[in-house]
Amino acid sequence: MAGIIPDRTIETIKERADILEVISRYVPMKKAGVNYVGLCPFHREKTPSFTVYRDKGFYKCFGCGKAGDVIGFLMDLEGMSFVEAVTDLAARYGIPVETESSGSAKKDKKFTRLLEINRDAQAFFYEQLKGDRGRRAVDYLKSRDIEGKTAALFSLGYAPGGWENLVEYFKKRGVDARLLIDAGLAIQGDRGPYDRFRDRIIFPIKNRRGETVGFGGRVIDTGEPKYMNSPETPVYHKGKILYGLDVTGSAIRREGQRRQRQGWAVIVEGYMDLIALYQGGVENVAATLGTALTSDHLGELKRYTKDVTLVFDADEAGARAAERTLPLFGEGSIYATVAVLPDGEDPDSLIRKGGRETFMKLVDEAPELFTFCLDRVFARHDIDTVRGQSAVLEEAVPIIAVKHQKHERDYYINRVADRLGVRPESVLTRLTQMRHARPGQQRQHEARSEADAEGKPDSLTPSRIERDIFKVAVNYPHLIDRAGLTHEHLELLETEAIKSVLFRLLDDEKTGNAINVSSLIPGDTPPEHTEILVNIAAIDREKNEIPDEETALSMLLGCVRTLDRQKKRRDIRRIDVQLKEETDEKRQQELLERKNKIIRQT
Ligand code: UTP
Ligand code: MN
Repeated sequence: MAGIIPDRTIETIKERADILEVISRYVPMKKAGVNYVGLCPFHREKTPSFTVYRDKGFYKCFGCGKAGDVIGFLMDLEGMSFVEAVTDLAARYGIPVETESSGSAKKDKKFTRLLEINRDAQAFFYEQLKGDRGRRAVDYLKSRDIEGKTAALFSLGYAPGGWENLVEYFKKRGVDARLLIDAGLAIQGDRGPYDRFRDRIIFPIKNRRGETVGFGGRVIDTGEPKYMNSPETPVYHKGKILYGLDVTGSAIRREGQRRQRQGWAVIVEGYMDLIALYQGGVENVAATLGTALTSDHLGELKRYTKDVTLVFDADEAGARAAERTLPLFGEGSIYATVAVLPDGEDPDSLIRKGGRETFMKLVDEAPELFTFCLDRVFARHDIDTVRGQSAVLEEAVPIIAVKHQKHERDYYINRVADRLGVRPESVLTRLTQMRHARPGQQRQHEARSEADAEGKPDSLTPSRIERDIFKVAVNYPHLIDRAGLTHEHLELLETEAIKSVLFRLLDDEKTGNAINVSSLIPGDTPPEHTEILVNIAAIDREKNEIPDEETALSMLLGCVRTLDRQKKRRDIRRIDVQLKEETDEKRQQELLERKNKIIRQT
């Protein structure tokens, strides 16, 4: 999408636009030190935690965690598309935008067209539910206690029986059936295209901006398959979207205060569960749609909260599903608790039987995810036997190892040691052994997210060291040279967006600390990634994070040392590989000497 406007132009816009001026048109801002603060427009608050870093070109709310650059701000507040926001800013600041008429311009147009088709199809389904043909569907919804008001809020509809209702409807309006097929609404048959959804109740799937991107269709009463969903299309990716957020997002931001949380989301599995909960007064819900939770889902949720409660079935499969989400929560940017439903119930049936109270009690008392998984380990073994103790250790340690942060690992190490009646060192030793002995498995457990494991390019999960370097370097650029950070060090990093900002910082003339960081982030960086980067860059003064320059310098020095060690290990590994293949004795000798020299270096 961004390809339509050259990256360089986007970077210029971020450099020249005055983020304070733009934001001040929506939010009154007050000067506080070098920065500006105001009441966050993205969540309700009484004391300002919404901070604008004018010179750096970004903003961050320490209340709800929303963060970004001037483009992202306009997108989120005004609901503009990326291109709209960029065009708007370019016009305002008099920056010429010469668009590259490339494939991506076409792609953007297609995107818009598919959204239009979905919008029109939704209107069609909605009318059908209200019409004569929709009576059975309405009766069914009534039998499930869905009120008319709720059905309207979620734009429920009905796809009539027959094969070509939708195809005909669009044909009359001059829409090519090809487009319907691309939108996943029609299927190409031998005798022409036919409707995908037939005689089904329709659940429009909307993104957080309320644009309809796909559909789910449920049979009336019983039948197979029970649900049918849109296939993946250019606008619909089930691994990324959470159902209901357009309606429930504000409630998710609002909830959680009682437990000192900034927002709170309950995650369930289906359309009916979400709708029943919402109608029953539990409004802070989102649903995955027939797919496991992914890091992209969490990325979406992070816009609203850092606290989620995952709801699972009572059976072993439910518990396993909970365990599978562990890697998503290793990073520690979002925290999960696990609520297990009573046997045979789903959220819809539970709230209908027991009311809001019953459901709230279940999610309120949900144990924290890692504790839940560790409890299951303890439940499997008899810790009064040596054998049981060893088994617990063996199974608990990989769970603890998922956590990226040392203090979080320490927390569980202490808890497990306590319960086993052993010293924390014993658990720590096992953890260290496991890390060295089984690097393959270790990595598997540490896989930062499902998306990473599947090799999707869409998530941005910088490592601890990348985060630290980035944070210090953008806030104290003049320390880069003092800490001895070089190109060679940066080459060891993996996250491209961070690397390129750091390379630019390293090469730039560093004049004081007022560097517009947002303009150093490459123009083709998606806003979601920018948000993650800004979140890393923003220093939380309230929490006394990096209180002074001295701390910053020692952090950076620590990172440089770690990278030096990494480099050393890498060089040694490379020599080892060469040694294995080298048959010439003299060359072998040379390699060995080189290796020893590296080892001796400090
Ligand atoms: P469930 O089978 O738990 O359905 O599937 P449900 O949500 O309780 O629906 P009701 O109460 O029977 O109407 C949970 C979710 O899994 C997906 C749907 O998104 C569904 O909401 N699913 C389920 C499918 O995609 N296809 C299916 O055939 C079944
Ligand atoms: Mn159900």
